[in-house]
Amino acid sequence: MGTEKKKVVLAYSGGLDTSVAIKWIQEKYNMDVIALTIDLGTEKDLKPVVKKAVKTGACKSMIIDAKEVFVDYFIFPALQAGALYERTYPLATALGRPLIAKLLVDTAKAEGACAVAHGCTGKGNDQVRFDIAIHTLDPSLQIIAPLREWNMTRNESMEYARINEIPVDVSTRNPYSIDENIWGRSIECGILEDPWAEPPEDIYKWTKNANDAPGEPTYIEIGFENGIPLTLNGQETDGINLINELNKIAGDNGVGRIDHLENRIVGIKSREIYESPAAIVLHKAHQALEEIVMTKDTHRFKDMVSTHYSDMVYNGLWYSTFHQDLAAYILSNQRFVVGTVRLKLFKGNCIVVGRKSPLSLYDHSLATYDTGDTFEHDAATGFIKIYGLPTKTQAQIQLKALKTGEVIPSIMPPKVEPTDVMEK
Ligand code: ARG
Repeated sequence: MGTEKKKVVLAYSGGLDTSVAIKWIQEKYNMDVIALTIDLGTEKDLKPVVKKAVKTGACKSMIIDAKEVFVDYFIFPALQAGALYERTYPLATALGRPLIAKLLVDTAKAEGACAVAHGCTGKGNDQVRFDIAIHTLDPSLQIIAPLREWNMTRNESMEYARINEIPVDVSTRNPYSIDENIWGRSIECGILEDPWAEPPEDIYKWTKNANDAPGEPTYIEIGFENGIPLTLNGQETDGINLINELNKIAGDNGVGRIDHLENRIVGIKSREIYESPAAIVLHKAHQALEEIVMTKDTHRFKDMVSTHYSDMVYNGLWYSTFHQDLAAYILSNQRFVVGTVRLKLFKGNCIVVGRKSPLSLYDHSLATYDTGDTFEHDAATGFIKIYGLPTKTQAQIQLKALKTGEVIPSIMPPKVEPTDVMEK
């Protein structure tokens, strides 16, 4: 009676690396490989991917459609939080990893596997995100990361695939490394590694070049409740549909391209190109709405939380209690973010042109320079006196005592003499 082989659940994309990984894990670890393909929103048909895994040697292969969970538990909370890493990257990949990790762990439990595997390299962010998430959820699981261990070049992997009769599709032969889900698409490698080189047009799939975008602007309206987008042009729409629609509409108008020179967790600076049309539009709209419903202090503080939240997500700390703390603040902070934002999409630009809210703090009678002004102008003089008092006092005592050219830089401009003086 033979002893049963140990099982490992592999996060499988159908690409070259994870296909080679199926064979490699069997050879190196003598385990049965269960291939798990997770659908976070891709244009790719995943049915052939499942078949390919079994053909390549997996003992079992399955897809989980996790789009809805992705949108409800990851994307929309990140939108509410204003999560743009380094104020730029909407975090599509970074948000997907903790969900994939959770599904790997759940599947390992269901299938009686003692290990999970992923196809991350040893110099990226994704290995950090996967490993931390997996071991936070289940420290007993063994983690196998073939690409980190095997040290094969891309050509060697291709050769390995050829010898083991693993089919290599055409897209694998392109020079770029691509990751995509419903919240965005990332493109790395090849010529893009030169930060001086303008990205070639053929890397883009979701967005038109602004030059080829329609000559007429497209106007859209997005309605929010609790900071979550619920309507598009007045129609109630579920999250997946809303994001898909916006990816299409904004992408057609050339909106959504991002060129980011970003700081990786592992200390490397890398140049990343993203296409995230829906994310860009939704973050813009959401920010515009926050401006009209939030007080100045709340807004300033939220801004700081956004920075910490983005770093937390990027750095792979999704399942931390720090995240729970930030999430609790965001939930409370978003309770008045209700209203509608109007945007104009035109030749690569996404411009907010209108916003309204039943809880708006904008008071026309206070703001107007026209008739109907209710602002107390008389009160301004007294306010300025008291508000400016400390600065005035300090100037009399300390600013006067400073000599320029000392350690402290002078903030006082030099005297500028008049020219062309004329007297009557
Ligand atoms: N730089 C982005 C991030 O760290 C995108 C990474 C894309 N990952 C990939 N394996 N191609 O989130």
